Amino acid sequence: MEGLKFLLAFVLLALASSFVSASDPSPLQDFCVAINETDGVFVNGKFCKDPKHVTEKDFFYSGLNIPGDTSNIPVGSNVTAANVEQIPGLNTLGISFARIDYAPYGGLNPPHTHPRATEILVVLKGTLYVGFVTSNTENRLISKVLNPGDVFVFPIGLIHFQFNVGKTNAVAFAGLSSQNPGVITIADAVFGSDPPINPDVLTKAFQVDKKVVDYLQKQFWSDNN
Ligand SMILES: *[C@@H]1O[C@H](CO)[C@@H](O)[C@H](O)[C@H]1NC(C)=O
Ligand SMILES: *[C@@H]1O[C@H](CO)[C@@H](O)[C@H](O)[C@H]1NC(C)=O
Repeated sequence: MEGLKFLLAFVLLALASSFVSASDPSPLQDFCVAINETDGVFVNGKFCKDPKHVTEKDFFYSGLNIPGDTSNIPVGSNVTAANVEQIPGLNTLGISFARIDYAPYGGLNPPHTHPRATEILVVLKGTLYVGFVTSNTENRLISKVLNPGDVFVFPIGLIHFQFNVGKTNAVAFAGLSSQNPGVITIADAVFGSDPPINPDVLTKAFQVDKKVVDYLQKQFWSDNN
């Protein structure tokens, strides 16, 4: 019995520590306000500014009231990020924020993943059809139409999207569980990589005619950040 309890405690501890290492590292001091790397030395994250030189500006960002302009972006959405690049005080704190603007009917935040963050999105204006797809065991689409005040979660690493199905423009804000969530836009990464992936790879992977892959690789791929 004692042995079983010990084993259970050990398994729980092992699980807990694997959860901890799956997110941004925890801070070991009050804060570690980011400064840029110097002399080609890199750390996992950013160097800390001397706390004596830290001010309120390091924890501040202004301008998320300004709509992102979607008119020059082919997918019709514009992401304004507030992560460690904009707010150096976020370094080591495991959190960031974004505003997303969507053009009237059809504005799309195209299928993408955040390799380092879960996202929680709240709609302020408009109507969004959103969803994510579970991993290969099921590839199940979990989707919903959201209206102002609605909140939806996109679990870390899973492919997700938001599509404006309303007549007006739409606005959403999102919290992300990393100082630097990263974005992999699926179409851009697969068909717009530099240099391009050998088309034989994509022809086989997508089980289509090589012409389709050639066509897709010739498109102009851009993201919305
Ligand atoms: C770090 O360097 C980048 C590019 O050189 C610059 O845009 C950014 O403002 C710098 N950040 C800080 C905190 O000095
Ligand atoms: C996104 O919107 C901002 C604010 O209007 C604008 O400065 C920026 O150029 C837009 N991004 C693109 C890629 O058009």
